[in-house]
Amino acid sequence: MASHHIPLLSSFLLILAAIQGIRAVNYAATNTASNTSDGVHYTVTNTARNTSGAIRFDNHIGFEYSLQALASTTYFIWKLFQQTNDADKKNVSKVSLFIDDMDGVAYTSNNEIHVSAKYINGHTGNLKGEITGVFYHEMTHIWQWNGNGEAPGGLIEGIADFVRLKSGYIPSHWVQPGQGDRWDQGYDVTARFLDYCNDLRNGFVADLNKKMINGYNVNYFVNLLDKSVDQLWSDYKALYHKKASIYVCGCMCTRIFL
Ligand SMILES: *[C@@H]1O[C@H](CO)[C@@H](O)[C@H](O)[C@H]1NC(C)=O
Ligand SMILES: *[C@@H]1O[C@H](CO)[C@@H](O)[C@H](O)[C@H]1NC(C)=O
Ligand SMILES: *[C@@H]1O[C@H](CO)[C@@H](O)[C@H](O)[C@H]1NC(C)=O
Ligand SMILES: [Zn+2]
Repeated sequence: MASHHIPLLSSFLLILAAIQGIRAVNYAATNTASNTSDGVHYTVTNTARNTSGAIRFDNHIGFEYSLQALASTTYFIWKLFQQTNDADKKNVSKVSLFIDDMDGVAYTSNNEIHVSAKYINGHTGNLKGEITGVFYHEMTHIWQWNGNGEAPGGLIEGIADFVRLKSGYIPSHWVQPGQGDRWDQGYDVTARFLDYCNDLRNGFVADLNKKMINGYNVNYFVNLLDKSVDQLWSDYKALYHKKASIYVCGCMCTRIFL
């Protein structure tokens, strides 16, 4: 007797499952997107769904742009780090971006990039440009070597901002070249200093990153540029001090001739 009810029950369950399945697919379609490019699988997930920042993300940045930006950012970093063969690159097959309802700006860990929906909501000015710049910085953390955890945090952040500097997506509040107190202060200060070093030797940052695959030693600066990092920092500071005085002098001369 009971066996007669089984087909009925199972078709009912099947329909129920189908309805729930459709719901799940619809939800996923608006909440997450993914794509594979150059052998890396990218996913973008907006976990902050109903917040105003998440809505701003949808309207001004969106899944499609994010997927394209992540892929082109990776490509840019491999090129800047001069990593043409797979053997040179970090072995990462999946990168996930999350837009989360959290404080701060962004962070990266375990091949996941987390960007704050609150930050997106509060940002004034060119939002797409700012978030693209954040992608460059965070994606660098995915692909850079960190000297097996021995490299100074300020250098790691400086390399991430150096990549951002080279991408052109930098905010106006960054320090100018020559500013800052220490070479390993991090972020924009160290990025500007690394840019100076990179001008002394084309590919310096790529070479430094390559050296940082298994460990870190401050003498890598000497190996690559024949000067200690402290000497390089004082040369750098002196150069911009000199440039500043030339500029003042130039103004005065112009006035005299007028
Ligand atoms: C997905 O990746 C392919 C290349 O692998 C690219 O041509 C396409 O534009 C990408 N689509 C999105 C939405 O990023
Ligand atoms: C988002 O809003 C919808 C209706 O607008 C609601 O059904 C859903 O529970 C909300 N989700 C969250 C995570 O707050
Ligand atoms: C890369 O990592 C994956 C696991 O994430 C592993 O299966 C693969 O063998 C690794 N490739 C290399 C070259 O180490
Ligand atoms: Zn960082």
